Amino acid sequence: MSEQTTEMAPAQSRSEQAVRIIVHEHQALWRILDLLDQLLSDMNVNDQRPDERLLTTIFDYIQHFSQRVHSTPTDIELYKRLSEKSPETAPLLEKLAKGYVIGHEKLLELRRLLAECEESWPEGREEFSHALARFTEALRKHIRKEEGVVIPRARKLLTEEDWQQIIEARDVENDPLFGERVREEFRELRHQIVSYTPEKFGGLGLKHADRVTAPHAKQEMLSIKGLVTSYGQIEVLHDVDIHINSGEIVSLVGANGAGKSTLLMTISGLQPTDRGAITFEGKDLAKISADQRVANGIVQVPEGRQVFKDLSVHDNLLLGAYTRGKTPEVMDDLERMYTKFPILRQKRHNLAGELSGGQQQMLAMGRALMAKPRLLLLDEPSMGLAPLIVEEIFNIVKELKEEGITIFLVEQNASQALALADRGYVLETGKVVIEGTGRELLSNEKVREAYLGM
Ligand SMILES: Nc1ncnc2c1ncn2[C@@H]1O[C@H](COP(=O)(O)OP(=O)(O)OP(=O)(O)O)[C@@H](O)[C@H]1O
Ligand SMILES: [Mg+2]
Repeated sequence: MSEQTTEMAPAQSRSEQAVRIIVHEHQALWRILDLLDQLLSDMNVNDQRPDERLLTTIFDYIQHFSQRVHSTPTDIELYKRLSEKSPETAPLLEKLAKGYVIGHEKLLELRRLLAECEESWPEGREEFSHALARFTEALRKHIRKEEGVVIPRARKLLTEEDWQQIIEARDVENDPLFGERVREEFRELRHQIVSYTPEKFGGLGLKHADRVTAPHAKQEMLSIKGLVTSYGQIEVLHDVDIHINSGEIVSLVGANGAGKSTLLMTISGLQPTDRGAITFEGKDLAKISADQRVANGIVQVPEGRQVFKDLSVHDNLLLGAYTRGKTPEVMDDLERMYTKFPILRQKRHNLAGELSGGQQQMLAMGRALMAKPRLLLLDEPSMGLAPLIVEEIFNIVKELKEEGITIFLVEQNASQALALADRGYVLETGKVVIEGTGRELLSNEKVREAYLGM
């Protein structure tokens, strides 16, 4: 018997563990494929207009599945080792690997067809439903091959040492082979899918207007304790305590010069701290540079937009992804930015300096999103914009939250910012003086008087 039997938990070898996780995640994917079938027949048989948001979330999930798990170092290592041990499997593995690339393109096409079908419903239905049916069919085939051939052979032929090497190939940032972080992201996306799936298909039937906060979203994402920040001799932030839970929108309001921007810059690492601690997902940020913070998912949209005025819209967006390189995924994300902000597509060859204020704000947000933030720091995004555009900016912020991005929002526009927020803080001359839920702050006597003009 191996030494594993002496452990408290039921002993599981590396291979068993890995296979168990893969099978579990595959089962979830099967259920989602079944759901897609149901949505498809609802559309065709019951003449039901497709739910774009739900389908988009499902597509996000599938895309995530193929991007974050496959074509990662672990998967490459697995395929390599299996090909060596079982040369007759090599052609199949090669085909499966190619399948990811093709699937990826098909998914992009599906998103496009869905948008078209939504726009001119019921026109475009046939094209979309055919493409979707072909896609699910191909994906099912792919998974069947993985489950029927790849996993059994891997199980039989790969040794504990192989699995050890495969697992060690993981690059920690990406956390693949269904590592903890990837699974957490899947859970979040599944949670959204289940929430928005109609009850008749076994979902919760949540309307899109209602908020989704994942059950695990109460986890603390950012914690700031006893923070002191100065410019030279002048102390600007005094002993600030703030925390942000993952999935929340937290708003920060305060008068001019209160230190709001300084606080954001301290979080993003552009401004050094004198004292106190900032922790992000349990990690102490003290020794982590601004660039590394971006790579870790903390991304700021600075006050006054600060786009690169002499560069094209396109290049500005690409610069947002500088920590990620010019990979095919980045190009996909660019495409998604253009879908999210159609005006940026229209102006993609214009210099950023030629855009209006509102357009520049969208560009600044698009650029930040290209860095794949998990915590987005927004410094007065509505400043100086016409009411209609302000409305639009707040809508986008809401959307981003629904996509699972946590948001720290600094705003002069206190009533709208607090109405949107799960929680909020009031900063006065570098000190947090009030904190509470968005609703509590909106009805707070002092806040109403000082910031809402009531
Ligand atoms: N680079 C700097 N050097 C010295 N002092 C600074 C610097 N930046 C800001 N300050 C000072 O620090 C204090 C806080 O400024 P900060 O920009 O953080 O406030 P804010 O709340 O963002 O204000 P606003 O609403 O005007 O954007 C102010 O007194 C400001 O004058
Ligand atoms: Mg400011």
